[in-house]
Amino acid sequence: VSTLKDAALPRYFGAALGQGHLQNASDPKFAQLAAQQFSAATPENEMKWEIVEPENGKFNFTPAEVIVQFTKRNNMKLRCHNLVWDSQLAPYVTTLPTSQVKQAMLSHIEGVVSHFAGDCYAWDVVNEPFNDDGTFKNDTFFNAMGEEYITLALQQARKFDPHAKLYINDFNIESANAKSDAMLTLAQGLVSKGLLDGIGFESHFILNELPPDIAGNMERFTSLGLDLAVTELDIRYDLPTTDADTTNQAQQFEEVINACQSVKRCVGVTTWGITDLYSWVPSTFAGQGGALLWDDDYNKKADWFSTINAL
Ligand code: XIL
Repeated sequence: VSTLKDAALPRYFGAALGQGHLQNASDPKFAQLAAQQFSAATPENEMKWEIVEPENGKFNFTPAEVIVQFTKRNNMKLRCHNLVWDSQLAPYVTTLPTSQVKQAMLSHIEGVVSHFAGDCYAWDVVNEPFNDDGTFKNDTFFNAMGEEYITLALQQARKFDPHAKLYINDFNIESANAKSDAMLTLAQGLVSKGLLDGIGFESHFILNELPPDIAGNMERFTSLGLDLAVTELDIRYDLPTTDADTTNQAQQFEEVINACQSVKRCVGVTTWGITDLYSWVPSTFAGQGGALLWDDDYNKKADWFSTINAL
């Protein structure tokens, strides 16, 4: 077996894709690897509110459609990302009177979900709702509607795409802690209402600081009857790369893959990109990088080999 997607079966193995990279004729390797190695894709930014509905009622599906069409041509699952998030939100939403935020959220979900209905294997309906202490972020949506915004968002997504699996996605919930406890409580209530199908563990990890017992924590969610997906995996470290970084990173990717493989309803792993060249890490975490499976020159790294061996 020479591809991640074949090794991962019956699970999928996905990557976040940017339409600019997919369409960059001077860098054909990106699209080639995306098609060869991966059986799922997540649009890295193209379905986010600020891009898909930059002004109230004005939808722009063009960038996202590049990725949708790519997944169709290449028989890939599409993880649609995301509908309700306090980041990369169109500015008009944050300036609305609180009494109008609910309507804006419902029409956003209607417009976007009905457009992509049938294309999405899953939707990250709500992204990153919690603070690390397990309280809800007091963002535009919570401020306007309280906790109820989550139920309303899921109901609306279900209404316009009854076949997509509906997820809540977050980071720092990969271990048992205050935040994942809060997510578990939220999930329990939503499962009993039939509104939630899965939980996404983003899994933006720091080398040598992997959270403990990821598999055991996955099972807390899957035992509610939920699917569990690793949605945004990368493992970053301070540059430049040392030999120890390379060795440890390979082991730690293996550890995450093994966790998913050991959990029946862990449905797949998605890495947050393909090559370190385009990873979000260096521009977000100063001085850090090296977080993905291919290096800047598209060489397979030690973590690629450990990953495919673990799958
Ligand atoms: C990141 C993208 O990778 C960047 O290109 C963008 O500038 C910011 O967002 N959690 C998420 C993702 O759910 O959508 C984020 O993606 C990374 C953190």
